[in-house]
Amino acid sequence: MNLAVIGSGGREHSICYKLKQSTKIKNLFCIPGNAGTNKIAKNIKEDILNFDNLYKIIKENNIDLVIVGPEEPLVKGLVDFLKEKKIKVFGPDKYASQLEGSKAFMKNLCKEKNIPTANFGVFDNYESACQFIKKSKTPIVVKADGLAAGKGVSICSTLEEAFKNTKEILEGKFKSSNKVILEEFLEGEELSYFVIVDENSYQFFGSAQDHKRVGENDTGPNTGGMGAYSPSPLLSGQLEKKIKKKIIEPTLKALKDSGHPYKGFLYAGLMVCKGEPHLIEYNIRMGDPECQALMMRLETDLVKIIDLALVNQINNIEIKWSKKNALTIVLCANGYPFKYIKDSEIKNLSNVLINKENQIFHAGTYEKNNKIYSNGGRVLNVVSLSKNLIDARKKSIANINIVNWSDGFYRKDIGWKATNNKK
Ligand code: AMP
Ligand code: GLY
Repeated sequence: MNLAVIGSGGREHSICYKLKQSTKIKNLFCIPGNAGTNKIAKNIKEDILNFDNLYKIIKENNIDLVIVGPEEPLVKGLVDFLKEKKIKVFGPDKYASQLEGSKAFMKNLCKEKNIPTANFGVFDNYESACQFIKKSKTPIVVKADGLAAGKGVSICSTLEEAFKNTKEILEGKFKSSNKVILEEFLEGEELSYFVIVDENSYQFFGSAQDHKRVGENDTGPNTGGMGAYSPSPLLSGQLEKKIKKKIIEPTLKALKDSGHPYKGFLYAGLMVCKGEPHLIEYNIRMGDPECQALMMRLETDLVKIIDLALVNQINNIEIKWSKKNALTIVLCANGYPFKYIKDSEIKNLSNVLINKENQIFHAGTYEKNNKIYSNGGRVLNVVSLSKNLIDARKKSIANINIVNWSDGFYRKDIGWKATNNKK
């Protein structure tokens, strides 16, 4: 079959990598893709929010199935649009995508269904928000309601900071948001928990932990993600039972009852506080960079898995994972997450050892005259699979050292909590 993946990040490269291993694939496309996806799929340049043009591409290339990587086209209704045109597509519809597209929607659902989450208030008016802030303890978490490319959340250590950030959001700092969510700060350890969902059922699709801060020891500003590892040592059998019963199952039931059963990958961002899971956020897609680590561990044919989910038979397959540890380090362009360097040549990539246990998944890269250049903040994901996390990290760092790119930087401590800071 002919398959297309929508997106251009490390997540999409790793999904293409896994799909490509399936015997069911005839042609694989990535729209728009990057220099890495172009080596294993055919890139087609297009704006992923231009649904009419995407439809034309799908028809022209006889694409049988579309897999949507990032959240924005999902939140804007790409699945509804393609389904209406009788195109097979894997991902949640516009209604269900509100789980990520509107934090107010997600929090209200939690409240209604008794799903554990931080106490909160939703406001579209500055005065009422201020009343709430005045009664809150610090730190207080201030969030924009809609998508904000990872920039919509601030953890405010003073009330003044919370007033300021609330005002900015309500004055339209993020186009997608005219509401603000104020939240109690939860102390604990974060865990990314994934499921693959169809209209009848769901299956566990891996656990991971990522590192959002730019600096070592988790310091400095937030980024899209500087690295991740899988599995997460936090996930015990007992904790998993609670996550399923208290968080995943009531959410899926609520959506089904509303006439919009969830379909696709679902990523629960959790804070584990004294053994109890709390929902911090939902993402309606795989995580980036978590997906890059997970795809190294996935042993079952991804096309088969998605094919079964499409016909609501996800329970008819055993999804197997390598017991090894996968770790990805993100190589970023100097300056990221602020203004960063662009169009800088990355040399020596072809000398990096690439095999079943070592991969480089591209993110912000493009190819010109047989040379690879950077064009994003997060540029390469250097992933390794190994018997333990320390060894996986050593292998990833050894591969980064082969890449010749003086305009890039990375964190050397990915996985530090899980490895007790051992190098
Ligand atoms: P979000 O976009 O909602 O995932 O928030 C981004 C990051 O902010 C999360 O990954 C957490 O590290 C942090 N965060 C968000 N909400 C809370 C909260 N209520 N308590 C503590 N940390 C939070
Ligand atoms: N790794 C965080 C995210 O994908 O949103």
